[in-house]
Amino acid sequence: MTTIEAIKKQSRGDKPIEPLIFEKHVAGVIGVDFPPLDVSETEVPEGVAGGSTTLPSFGQHDVMAHYTHLSDRNFSVDGNFYPLGSCTMKHNPRINEWGAALPGFACLHPLQDDDTIQGALRLLYETRTMLEEIAGLHEVSLQPAAGAHGEFTALKVIRAYFADHGQPNRTVVLAADTAHGTNPASCTMCGASVETVRTVNGQTDLEHLKEVIAIIGAENIAAFMITNPSTAGLFDANIKEIADIVHEAGAKLYLDGANMNALLGRVRPGDFGADAMHYNTHKTFSTPHGGGGPGSGPIAVTEELAPYLPIPQVMMADDGSFYLDRSRDKTIGKVRSFICQFGVLVRCWSYISACGPKGLRNVSETAVLNANYLAAKLCTTYSMPFFDPKNGKFCAHEFVTVPQTLLDKGVTLIDIAKRMIDYGVHPPTMHWPMHDCLMVEPTETESKQALDSFVDVMLQIAEEISSEIELVQQSPLESDIARADEVAAARKPILTFK
Ligand SMILES: Cc1ncc(COP(=O)(O)O)c(C=O)c1O
Repeated sequence: MTTIEAIKKQSRGDKPIEPLIFEKHVAGVIGVDFPPLDVSETEVPEGVAGGSTTLPSFGQHDVMAHYTHLSDRNFSVDGNFYPLGSCTMKHNPRINEWGAALPGFACLHPLQDDDTIQGALRLLYETRTMLEEIAGLHEVSLQPAAGAHGEFTALKVIRAYFADHGQPNRTVVLAADTAHGTNPASCTMCGASVETVRTVNGQTDLEHLKEVIAIIGAENIAAFMITNPSTAGLFDANIKEIADIVHEAGAKLYLDGANMNALLGRVRPGDFGADAMHYNTHKTFSTPHGGGGPGSGPIAVTEELAPYLPIPQVMMADDGSFYLDRSRDKTIGKVRSFICQFGVLVRCWSYISACGPKGLRNVSETAVLNANYLAAKLCTTYSMPFFDPKNGKFCAHEFVTVPQTLLDKGVTLIDIAKRMIDYGVHPPTMHWPMHDCLMVEPTETESKQALDSFVDVMLQIAEEISSEIELVQQSPLESDIARADEVAAARKPILTFK
């Protein structure tokens, strides 16, 4: 028996395939006990009633067992190392969940009067002011529901500012060639066009920035969107100079703050010249967002941009009570229903309050230390274009590897990523910000033991590529599902049970 056959026999083959819930259907069984009807029975009007449904029926325990089996097969940040670069999949302290689930928060109705939700408004006001302080900027709006939504909202604010100052022609936004896909998408959504600025060795090319401004015309530019540290895991040390160039053009510097995990407590974006930024509270302040879970993307802006922020804004009155201000005459209006993504902001408040100023500094220091530790251990086997500690080139909170020497031996990047699944590691972000790269972000919540075992896994995979390449090429061999065709799954998903 070959090694591969042996692995397949003892692992995947042993775990029975979980049938679909439709396949387990037992006719006539009801798993719910409805309370006795306490209103008079009435016919559903014809126009409202739909056709009959074909939902499966079960006993309560069978439903529990079905979903528990499925959840056992989930890969989660609670159970595994999840170094998904740029996504900051860190441990979510359970006190956050406790706070968010308190009935006084979880059972609020978003249309309650301000005087009945004073505790919730206080929490939002304190979150607002803490985020203002961390950003070094004048005012925060908690409304946007995710990072991309924050980008969109802040650009709307910037455009409203220019329209109000007689410069409606400022409709072009500059973005680095390493920018996250949401940057150009948000610009387009709010009616701005995008021009790309080159990066060299992961840093903004200042000459190209000046060139692009000259070609487009300074008077047409609304903002430069920069991610710092960049998605190559590098802090752009020229950021003050960049801010000067952008401001000289009369435009605004927008910071994509998705990577604030590397800056917390050490650098304030307002101090290096950012006029506006968004947070991904669901990354930087826990609440991991894998699987499209809830997010929150507050934005912070300078005093001159503040009048255009969305409403309602949470405020503190002179008597110390809290209220929602809906009466700002220059506001861009609402960007979502109700006030904000409340539950995620409870977790954000809890995380920041538990850390305190020193703790936040410790977060960013440890996140950066952990990334550099991994990079130093792996860089001789997994080539790293931007990491060269002997020449003073370190990474920020994440690093990029282009493992060319391993790829040259006959594996693809996806083979390496799939083999990582066999070792219980979530594959890192791939092919971004450059082709054939893995972007690894360990975060500060991983122990040295977890980091060391990741190093062992990566070195073991490199060893297998030399000695038993089929193991890597045919992986995953030990997961519940064999190698999936991700492209077909994304482009031609089969979403119905036949
Ligand atoms: C650099 C960067 N910008 C923006 C975003 C968008 O944030 P969101 O997914 O919350 O919309 C992300 C998401 O991970 C990101 O990594």
